[in-house]
Amino acid sequence: MVETMKWEDGKLILLDQTKLPVTVEWISCDTYRRVGEAIQKLEVRGAPAIGAAAAFAMALAWRQIANAEQPEALSVCSKSANKKRLASFAKARAELDAARPTAVNLSWATKVMYDAACSMAEAGLDPQQTETELETLAVKIYELDIDKNKKMGEYGAEVVPENAVILTHCNAGALATCGWGTALGVIRSAHQQGKVKMVYSDETRPLLQGSRLTAWELLEDNIPVTTITDNMAAWSMKTKGINIVITGADRIAANGDTANKIGTYGVALAAKAHGIPFYIAAPASTFDFSLTDGSQIPIEERRAEEVRSFQGAVSAPPNVKVFNPAFDVTPAKLIAGIITEYGVLRPPFERSIGELKTKVLKEELFTWKA
Ligand code: MRU
Repeated sequence: MVETMKWEDGKLILLDQTKLPVTVEWISCDTYRRVGEAIQKLEVRGAPAIGAAAAFAMALAWRQIANAEQPEALSVCSKSANKKRLASFAKARAELDAARPTAVNLSWATKVMYDAACSMAEAGLDPQQTETELETLAVKIYELDIDKNKKMGEYGAEVVPENAVILTHCNAGALATCGWGTALGVIRSAHQQGKVKMVYSDETRPLLQGSRLTAWELLEDNIPVTTITDNMAAWSMKTKGINIVITGADRIAANGDTANKIGTYGVALAAKAHGIPFYIAAPASTFDFSLTDGSQIPIEERRAEEVRSFQGAVSAPPNVKVFNPAFDVTPAKLIAGIITEYGVLRPPFERSIGELKTKVLKEELFTWKA
């Protein structure tokens, strides 16, 4: 299975996903701004992977803040010294959060790291101790993501029928996470159980995450895959025996409305029309319990050039107006279930998501304690 990122010698090494499947290249990041740029340019992408990269970026930001101080100042943990450091840390957090606004895993991870740094300051840790602790926390976010995906895979495989012909959109695989994947994690687990006959991967215009990444990733693991262009999804449902749709998510509101890659909404509508169950697979960190419904989810709009050209070649008049939302919101009523590391949530989602929230708050998995 492919690796998305590595933390090596205090640097974040990212697999450059913009180059796949043509070449496998790695980017070495030793500043938080370089990680922010990688997130913005989709060199690293997919909600959970963005979250983990942002956690490492926060660890880098703290190190940059500490390194900018005179050595003798580093032992000073007075209230005012801590306040200054935390103010710079908050600035780095805000910059990272702005890199991509829809995937809530990003601001979830930067909040976890920021809150931890505040608790460390209160506990009297010096900047170097804080740096070590923040690195450890980022590694924990990374490692637990893989565990969560494996759990999601086990729960999700149960809803996958025998002889499954699955349609998926975008890439919610190992590449979009720290390993295994969410939607593709479920597919991987179901494949291990011998249930998967075929996976249809939507190409996913404009940036082709489905054909470049999902197809590549599944072929690497010898999972049968057929790529179609986005406008072939409904017809494939009608003619190819598709019996389940599984996609990932970037942000899920408290009522189950789900933001995911642009085109997901259309896929969900087509699935409904064909009586095919439509599932979302996502970890608890993709839920935004503060939003009552999907209308409150911020939708990222990207550069017009992504639509006016195709893989570098001009595909539209240079002056044509373009609408380029990177995500859409699928209403909860089109979703049969949401597969999480805590189990499969079923409608009514207000209730099942409320129960999930209680469990997550109780666990306090990422709360730093002295
Ligand atoms: O723009 P991207 O490639 O970051 O969009 C990714 C998606 O929409 C994924 O489906 C989502 O982040 C879930 S990834 C496990």
